[in-house]
Amino acid sequence: MKNILLFVALIAMTLAACSETVATEPTSTPDPLIEEGIKVYTARCAQCHALEPNTAIIGPSLAGIATLAADRIPGYDAITYIEQSILRPSDYLVEGYTDVMPKNFGRELTSEQFNALMAYLMTLE
Ligand code: HEC
Repeated sequence: MKNILLFVALIAMTLAACSETVATEPTSTPDPLIEEGIKVYTARCAQCHALEPNTAIIGPSLAGIATLAADRIPGYDAITYIEQSILRPSDYLVEGYTDVMPKNFGRELTSEQFNALMAYLMTLE
């Protein structure tokens, strides 16, 4: 009798564990900050910057920029380089491109838009 009770308890625990696994399965909730960053990118950057690798429009592709940015200027980490690229685009020109990126993003974008854009660009590894 004891054994049967133990067996039933074990089954119950196993079932509970199973249903718990199903209930807590991760759902893909989009990060609102990244979503906002994509909107800013689409409105202000996408006309010149493709996301497909090796695809130049007016500016270089930003595919992999979060990784690439860390190696652009000695002493600049990826965040610093990308921030500078947006706020002071004339300071460093990517080889083969001219100085046509707008210079007014520092005034045009709110700090919320800028932060969201940075968060999004840092996902492009
Ligand atoms: C009118 C076209 C144009 C627009 C709009 C534009 N850019 Fe650029 N961007 C360029 C060009 C051209 C370059 C390459 C010359 C240079 O380094 O400034 C560049 C360079 C960059 C770089 C450096 C890339 C590298 O490989 O080192 C980053 C990062 C960048 N842009 C981000 C942005 C972001 C973010 C936006 C939107 C807020 C934006 N750009 C809007 C034309 C543009």
